[in-house]
Amino acid sequence: MKMLAARKPAAEVKNGSAKVPPVLLKRKPSVELKTAAELQKMRSAGRVVAEVLKILESAVKPGISTGELDRLAAEEIAARGATPAFLGYCGYPAVLCSSINEEVVHGIPDKKRLLREGDIVSLDMGAVCGGYYGDAAMTVPVGKISAEAARLLEVTKASLAAAIAAVRPGAFLGDVSSAVQSCAESAGMSVVRDFVGHGIGRHLHEEPAVPNYGEKGSGLRLEPGMTIAIEPMVNAGGWQVRVLDNGWTVVTKDESLSAHFEHTVAVTDSGAEILTV
Ligand code: CO
Repeated sequence: MKMLAARKPAAEVKNGSAKVPPVLLKRKPSVELKTAAELQKMRSAGRVVAEVLKILESAVKPGISTGELDRLAAEEIAARGATPAFLGYCGYPAVLCSSINEEVVHGIPDKKRLLREGDIVSLDMGAVCGGYYGDAAMTVPVGKISAEAARLLEVTKASLAAAIAAVRPGAFLGDVSSAVQSCAESAGMSVVRDFVGHGIGRHLHEEPAVPNYGEKGSGLRLEPGMTIAIEPMVNAGGWQVRVLDNGWTVVTKDESLSAHFEHTVAVTDSGAEILTV
């Protein structure tokens, strides 16, 4: 699976292998539509994620360890009667993903890893309420950062906003993907291809995959009740990434800076509702 988090695009979707009847290949991915009651639970989970991320954001300063941020995240999730979504998922060892500078996603919190003035740190967190998931991320400056780093944060945030603006019933998933890609690439930056956003609801990762690159007018059509986690991962340099020996942490191949913003979003009758607020 990985369908890991920013999960890997499912190779199985690509169907290199022979024996799948053509009719199955044409079938669209089975995307679960959520009822009003389910959306209500997702709002609760999303609110917990948003509140805790805000607390973490204000705790970020030079000298704090990513392990301490993880401890704080666990405490604040529990205080809200929710459960961490990432801890134990495919063996992931923490509540929070904290990815510093050239780390893209899945940085593992560590009491010995201290944030330094000028770093950027991506905080990615999920929570479960009443069996339903919320998932969001933001990249935060540590003290004063370079103009280049600040621009990367702005562009990545803007690419998420552009993607959300493309969400409405009848729009194509490719419209959402293409919005991220054109926003990032027109600013001279690149989007990660090996990890993608995802459907979300009763599971952290559901259909469909939500890539950060694609063609307008392609892919499945959005319908009210669909819930997706849109998560641009944008690199200041090239799009290529590799995974460190810990089996989790994704870094840019050229060691350029990377940023990550994510919201869980519902398709409504007229547009989009951000659930992680
Ligand atoms: Co996600």
